[in-house]
Amino acid sequence: MGRFDGKVALVTGAARGIGQATALKLAAEGADIALCDLRKEWIEDTESKVRALGRRAESFAMNVAVGDDVTRAVGEVEKAFGRIDVLINNAGITKDGLLMRMAEEDWDNVLEINLKGTFLCTKAVSRIMMKQRSGAIVNVASIIGLIGNAGQCNYSASKAGVIALTKSVAKELAARNIRANAVAPGFIATKMTDELSDDVKKQMLDNIPLKRFGSPDDVANVIAFLAGDEAAYVSGQVVTVCGGMVT
Ligand SMILES: NC(=O)c1ccc[n+]([C@@H]2O[C@H](COP(=O)([O-])OP(=O)(O)OC[C@H]3O[C@@H](n4cnc5c(N)ncnc54)[C@H](O)[C@@H]3O)[C@@H](O)[C@H]2O)c1
Repeated sequence: MGRFDGKVALVTGAARGIGQATALKLAAEGADIALCDLRKEWIEDTESKVRALGRRAESFAMNVAVGDDVTRAVGEVEKAFGRIDVLINNAGITKDGLLMRMAEEDWDNVLEINLKGTFLCTKAVSRIMMKQRSGAIVNVASIIGLIGNAGQCNYSASKAGVIALTKSVAKELAARNIRANAVAPGFIATKMTDELSDDVKKQMLDNIPLKRFGSPDDVANVIAFLAGDEAAYVSGQVVTVCGGMVT
């Protein structure tokens, strides 16, 4: 018996990194998974890994920042699976730069994918959850949304927005038995952080009390807890997964 037996989870940004680890964790515990990312072919690896766990996996191309695309893809998921019990808003990007040099386009891009994307997916999926009168939403924020970071004003603003959105959604949908929580990862070893220089990585490591970078599985474990029934009385919360960096 898995804690997600009989449940359907939709994961955005499921092709790799934290999204892939989360899809695999939920599948390992019994969930069937709707895998969403920009291009269907990017999701093939996650799809075959979920199927290898004996669960159903279907892939859907979806740009979370485009309303019509989200509505279409979520409609396809509903048609394919008949329900959505868990939504993981994980898709996100960085376009770092100092405030004085940041192009307007880089601000817009990050806000559109990270924040508006979370809004659009939550709106489309919560329509289904409201009919079911149950659901759990987990948004992937960041500790940078709590503490800020030089060179990431767009990213930090987007993730602070995700945290505020999570709290409002939690209050608005609680009466329909829908919970919404956020995780705020610290430095997690994925393609997103791969691109940082060795100097920056060393500096980060020096500031992590547990003295290691997190893994996608470290984050997936906490997401699974928040998405599952063990967290039935937890809503509107932000849980940091950062090796003790932010306390
Ligand atoms: N890696 C970290 O240290 C870290 C720390 C804190 C928060 N996060 C957050 O975790 C989430 C996942 O990050 P990751 O490290 O696994 O990154 P990643 O770059 O490895 O994966 C992100 C995924 O999102 C997808 N994606 C990007 N734009 C999209 C769009 N418009 N529509 C649909 N999918 C899109 C990408 O194709 C990719 O598969 C992000 O929201 C990120 O901000 C990561």
